[in-house]
Amino acid sequence: MSKVDVLLGLQWGDEGKGKAVDFLAPKYDIVARFQGGPNAGHTLEFDGKKHVLHQIPSGIFHPEILNIIGNGVVIDPIVFAREIRDLEPFGVDATKTLVLSNKAQLILPTHKLLDKALELSKGEEKIGSTLRGIGPTYQDKIGRHGLRIGDIIEKDFDEKYQKLKKQHLSLLSALELEDDFIEQENQFFHSLELMRQFRIISTEYLIHESLKSGKDILAEGAQGTLLDIDFGSYPFVTSSNTTTAGACTGLGIAPNQINEVFGIFKAYCTRVGSGPFPTELFNQEGEQLRKLGNEFGATTGRPRRCGWLDIPALNYSCMLNGVTQLFMMKADVLSGVSPVKICESYNSDRGETSEFPYVYNDSYSPIFKEVPSWELDGILEYNNLPHNLKSFISSVEESVHVPITLISLGPDRKETVLKKS
Ligand code: GDP
Ligand code: IMO
Ligand code: MG
Repeated sequence: MSKVDVLLGLQWGDEGKGKAVDFLAPKYDIVARFQGGPNAGHTLEFDGKKHVLHQIPSGIFHPEILNIIGNGVVIDPIVFAREIRDLEPFGVDATKTLVLSNKAQLILPTHKLLDKALELSKGEEKIGSTLRGIGPTYQDKIGRHGLRIGDIIEKDFDEKYQKLKKQHLSLLSALELEDDFIEQENQFFHSLELMRQFRIISTEYLIHESLKSGKDILAEGAQGTLLDIDFGSYPFVTSSNTTTAGACTGLGIAPNQINEVFGIFKAYCTRVGSGPFPTELFNQEGEQLRKLGNEFGATTGRPRRCGWLDIPALNYSCMLNGVTQLFMMKADVLSGVSPVKICESYNSDRGETSEFPYVYNDSYSPIFKEVPSWELDGILEYNNLPHNLKSFISSVEESVHVPITLISLGPDRKETVLKKS
């Protein structure tokens, strides 16, 4: 019986999960997404081309791999149809290599309207949602009246759709429908036709049969641990469990079927949207990181907030996820940046603490240590990496007590260094 490896983000998303999954995919038979939806933007680069995936797992460019969208995911058919179309010029026939869980939730056009209305009503306290309908769709799931992908192949789908739409419209009654709502709805139904061409099944059975027959599975997380609905900086979070536990509920696997947990982090930190960010830089240094790291959202294009690596946050994420291996991404961005800083703990009105706070407010401030920077020269061999980069790696490993086994030094699949532990 095989086991499942999980790969997930340890910060506020955009750590480079797409690149890492695409890099590791050849070792696996199946890549499966377990939560989130079109709020994700996972970037892959190879053969001089860049691809951004939102709902489709990042193993899709490997024709021999089966990709699964698990029950924990929320799916927007319009985005789905666009993603499938965008894959066609690259010879990817996803109808053969992509399977959808019949239990994944369906994002309706009205979910997106509700997302906008709810966000608008929050005024200054807005979450900075991607407005892709994520929150309202998960709300309907938990409220037990959501529509699932399996419903689209049932005879009474139209009836169910109209019923839920009516509920949404009564909630939205104070608002005018957007001019393009009819067009959105047309696109929605048109996209459902495409979705019906895919295998819509109980993917939990497929996963278990695959494990029994010795197949290797990689579960791909979306967002990051600090955006988790339970453990993230609530309420500035997404609406799903982004942690390892989410892989169990989002795919139907048991905790004892999980093997390695690959935790991905940037050598610094970014965040897009509102909410606390202890090591955020509001100065020229932050601007520099944004520019060097090209830190603009893959889904919304918004500039990402930038700051230094936060060890208490990283420790917290490793603890929650049971991380067995760390992957450090974007170390190239810090090449030539001097000084490089790491936050080791926080000052608080109760003294120094290494605990990630319940509420991060003005009574906290990060305590930084400066480390010597490095210059990269294109070398992709661990032993030949600059001494200061290796010291940075050792310093993080010592603080977090988890080995860093992969170092990413550029967006391309090839710009990846493996460190044998
Ligand atoms: P994800 O959501 O975790 O998959 O990450 P995103 O794709 O949203 O954001 C990561 C960005 O960094 C993308 O533009 C990637 O192409 C890029 N990237 C990934 N790894 C590296 C790296 O090691 N160095 C650099 N410079 N860019 C990287
Ligand atoms: P990937 O998978 C970064 C953020 C949004 C917002 C909050 C809630 O690419 O790492 P939502 O749309 O879920 O209601 O937004 O979460 N957010 C992300 N930030 N990367 C993501 O995904 C994100 N998905 C959601 O910016 O602050
Ligand atoms: Mg992203």
